[in-house]
Amino acid sequence: MLEILTYPDPRLKQISKPVTEFDANFHSLLDQMAVTMYASNGIGLAAPQVGHFVRAFIVDISSQDENRTRLMEFVNPRFSNGKGKIDFEEACLSVPGASEFVRRKSDIVVDYQDRFGNPQSLEASGLLAVATQHENDHLDGILFIDRLSLLKRKLLTKKITKALSL
Ligand code: CO
Repeated sequence: MLEILTYPDPRLKQISKPVTEFDANFHSLLDQMAVTMYASNGIGLAAPQVGHFVRAFIVDISSQDENRTRLMEFVNPRFSNGKGKIDFEEACLSVPGASEFVRRKSDIVVDYQDRFGNPQSLEASGLLAVATQHENDHLDGILFIDRLSLLKRKLLTKKITKALSL
């Protein structure tokens, strides 16, 4: 179980570097991320959330969508051909206690590598598209609250700061 960095930890704003070594250390990180995500009842977790600033994240939306059952690992992801719009109420293991509707692309194509470095591609829509975009944002130091309107963000961060100071 890895420690999850939480807002307003400045390390969450760091931009992660591409993965270049697909070795046992990296596989161990992915495995530990999965343990951490499931223990926290999350449906996605990005490496920088656990203090490893490399471009990798995991997603498992099977608890929300029974048609999807597998743990998916995305390394060095690149999004293209996004289209459509979806408003989904998001939360984040790094922003405990907060949730808000975020607008994202409803349909995406993501090219990425698996844990062995093999090229992969995925077309996704709905929750899987939302989850992969949310996790990918972490690799660029962006939290879902950064995607909100200024007013909504102010209200939400005020609430979070208040909760933190208890
Ligand atoms: Co998150």
